[in-house]
Amino acid sequence: CLCSWILFFSPVFHLRFPVRSVDMQRATDNITTRQGDTAIIKCYVDDKVSRVAWLNRSNIIFAGQDKWSLDPRVDLVTKGQLEYSLRIQKVDVYDEGSYTCSIQTKQQPKTSQVYLIVQVPANINKVSEDITVNEGSNVTLSCLASGRPEPVITWRLLNPLAEPLEGEEFLDIIGIMRNQAGRYECKASNDVATPDIKYVNVVVNYPPTIRKTQSSETPVGRMGMLQCEVTAVPTPEFEWYRDEKRLSNTQGINIQILGTTTVLVIANVTEEDYGNYTCVASNRLGVQNASLFLYRPGTGRDINGSACVSQSLWLLLASFACLFFKC
Ligand SMILES: *[C@@H]1O[C@H](CO)[C@@H](O)[C@H](O)[C@H]1NC(C)=O
Ligand SMILES: *[C@@H]1O[C@H](CO)[C@@H](O)[C@H](O)[C@H]1NC(C)=O
Ligand SMILES: *[C@@H]1O[C@H](CO)[C@@H](O)[C@H](O)[C@H]1NC(C)=O
Ligand SMILES: *[C@@H]1O[C@H](CO)[C@@H](O)[C@H](O)[C@H]1NC(C)=O
Ligand SMILES: *[C@@H]1O[C@H](CO)[C@@H](O)[C@H](O)[C@H]1NC(C)=O
Ligand SMILES: *[C@@H]1O[C@H](CO)[C@@H](O)[C@H](O)[C@H]1NC(C)=O
Ligand SMILES: *[C@@H]1O[C@H](CO)[C@@H](O)[C@H](O)[C@H]1NC(C)=O
Repeated sequence: CLCSWILFFSPVFHLRFPVRSVDMQRATDNITTRQGDTAIIKCYVDDKVSRVAWLNRSNIIFAGQDKWSLDPRVDLVTKGQLEYSLRIQKVDVYDEGSYTCSIQTKQQPKTSQVYLIVQVPANINKVSEDITVNEGSNVTLSCLASGRPEPVITWRLLNPLAEPLEGEEFLDIIGIMRNQAGRYECKASNDVATPDIKYVNVVVNYPPTIRKTQSSETPVGRMGMLQCEVTAVPTPEFEWYRDEKRLSNTQGINIQILGTTTVLVIANVTEEDYGNYTCVASNRLGVQNASLFLYRPGTGRDINGSACVSQSLWLLLASFACLFFKC
């Protein structure tokens, strides 16, 4: 077509013309502007030039000083006879395209074409709501963004590693595991402005697992404590049993619950208290129980590290004990 012909040969015209006669931007130039900004597309002329015009694609915007375009955002920037630049205010995406400064000298016509590129910062329009799912579910998180050029979308789970995850607009998590719960970050970047970032919180429910139990070896007349540590989401309910009998907060027995840990406190151990106890943890996804023992001193079998554990128990339970004895 004629356009490409002109584009192709314009460097040749450049060589033929005296440098001072016409000074325009190179025909292949691109100008990059952000949406909303003002773009000035330069065109320089001198008094050997008889006619000038600006075209947007193939439409005349200005012919000499006559404005053909009805667009109020468009005007000329002139400096005496020497400059004939086009100013476009509040540039929008539909202004992207080629603009031609067309110059008529005594000898030959000459055109300079500039391609206006309009950029738009990346913007996340829609992101998944925070969700709660059961372990093993398939989860799809979405993050929809706009911008020019098209933004690149990346995902991370904000745990200490925070490694990038494989996914763009949609992040698929097949059979989600408890360690994949947390705050997900979706980032849309296109190098036009700082990236846009949004977050999705994912809660993964799973049934209780008793992680640690602590039996106790306590002499008669002292305070005995049995401890059960659980992992579970949501936070579990606890029950304590002595053999088959459910225990409650009554004479000498106090059940403490701190999140996912429970402690059974026997205020003043008697001979009858020695024996088998069961801690039961449950949430809506499941139940688990474990057996613990209150041992008569010298008969304990599983009191590995009892010294350090009882020390930490004492620290942990200083306030409970205080409450319990109403001191
Ligand atoms: C101008 O932009 C176009 C895409 O819009 C690209 O293909 C071309 O290489 C760019 N030219 C220059 C000189 O940057
Ligand atoms: C350029 O032309 C396009 C398509 O005709 C139009 O949408 C746009 O508003 C024009 N821009 C200017 C600055 O004239
Ligand atoms: C999760 O996705 C996998 C692979 O696409 C499929 O085999 C499985 O049935 C899905 N599970 C559920 C609960 O939809
Ligand atoms: C524990 O119980 C025994 C017998 O009932 C009693 O003599 C003792 O004072 C109690 N000790 C404490 C600390 O309450
Ligand atoms: C302790 O009690 C639980 C529940 O009653 C029972 O399943 C377990 O076998 C008992 N353990 C011992 C060592 O008696
Ligand atoms: C502990 O769990 C077993 C099965 O795992 C069950 O048979 C038993 O009844 C449970 N004990 C209590 C006290 O819930
Ligand atoms: C005490 O700990 C040792 C190793 O740390 C282990 O082999 C042993 O089974 C434990 N004993 C009990 C009763 O838990």
